[in-house]
Amino acid sequence: MLRALKGEVLKRPPFWLMRQAGRYLPEYRELRKQSKNFLDFCYSPDLAVEATLQPLRRYNMDAAILFSDILVLPDALGQKVEFREGEGPVLEPIRSIAEMNKLSADRIEDHLAPVFETIARLANEIPEQTALIGFAGAPWTVAVYMVEGRGGTDCSQIRKWADDASDEFRELINLLVEAIATYLTRQVESGAEIIQLFDSWAGILNERQFHRWSIEPTRRIVDRLRESCPGVPVIGFPRNVGPLAEPFVTGTGIDAISLDQDTSLAWIAETLQPKCTVQGNLDNQVLVEGGEALDRETMAILKALSKGPFVFNLGHGILPTTPPEHVARVAELVLGWPATAKEVR
Ligand code: CP3
Repeated sequence: MLRALKGEVLKRPPFWLMRQAGRYLPEYRELRKQSKNFLDFCYSPDLAVEATLQPLRRYNMDAAILFSDILVLPDALGQKVEFREGEGPVLEPIRSIAEMNKLSADRIEDHLAPVFETIARLANEIPEQTALIGFAGAPWTVAVYMVEGRGGTDCSQIRKWADDASDEFRELINLLVEAIATYLTRQVESGAEIIQLFDSWAGILNERQFHRWSIEPTRRIVDRLRESCPGVPVIGFPRNVGPLAEPFVTGTGIDAISLDQDTSLAWIAETLQPKCTVQGNLDNQVLVEGGEALDRETMAILKALSKGPFVFNLGHGILPTTPPEHVARVAELVLGWPATAKEVR
């Protein structure tokens, strides 16, 4: 994994899956019962370590990703964050300077101490050849949840604030840049070897806004990490941005870009792969379906991208309805590459 992120072309690409821990696994659902509240679960090192290790035991991925959530950060800043059963995250929205001023980055170290402990224990427990990935939401995506108060909205509140009062909104983004850089530095100091920044809501921004609210803040975080933890690779995930993935790569200085399933394989190979390592991009819905479509699409990705620096992954996180056997099939095809190319036509 580390070699691929440094730009090496490997015979068999490394493999992990976004949201590889979680509800599609019966052992996760069982473990999850030990804590009523999802944030408490994330802040229990025993449970978070176990959840992180579960997919590795089944599928032998090349990387483990810390079990946590991007919304522990607004929680640490002092915003009220709740996860409601069947509803997802609900936050008390921040929509003014006065509300923003109640937040503070001073609590990160103490409040997120259980996350750092989880990382430190994982660094000791996972096999030597398995990389440990730490992560955070990118400023824009975390701000979407902070301002909208939940996911899945039309984002009208945050867009209005970002457009009509951009100086105010910039203060929120600046606070998040500082907080995220501090949080990620502490993750690396605790034992994370790779960082992924999830900008899951970057796709709703137009080009000008994308430069201002995604590329620019990401570049500042990357710069801070280069200084505080030199040599630690950073993977960016600006989801659904189409051809703007190219200015994202050149403008942020990231080591690798994670791509969603709508990004053309030929375009990735031709335009992005000469510039950085690429990660992706199996359709998570095809992973739910399985069968021939799953074999075919997995092979198409391996064929198109394994001639350059590449990490096999999904285009977006595993869905809770995914049959675990389908994940086993993908693991078999990727871990057996290139021999498996002969098996599937
Ligand atoms: O295995 C891993 O990949 C690590 C764990 C992980 C979780 N969330 C666990 C989780 C990671 C990397 C995340 C990131 C995350 N969280 C993102 C960015 C990636 C993406 O999917 O776009 C976002 C936007 C969130 C916010 C979030 N967390 C939402 C919208 C939800 C509710 C929807 C859902 O899938 O349940 C969550 C809850 C959440 N995060 C769960 C898990 C396992 C389910 C909660 C439970 O088990 O009860």
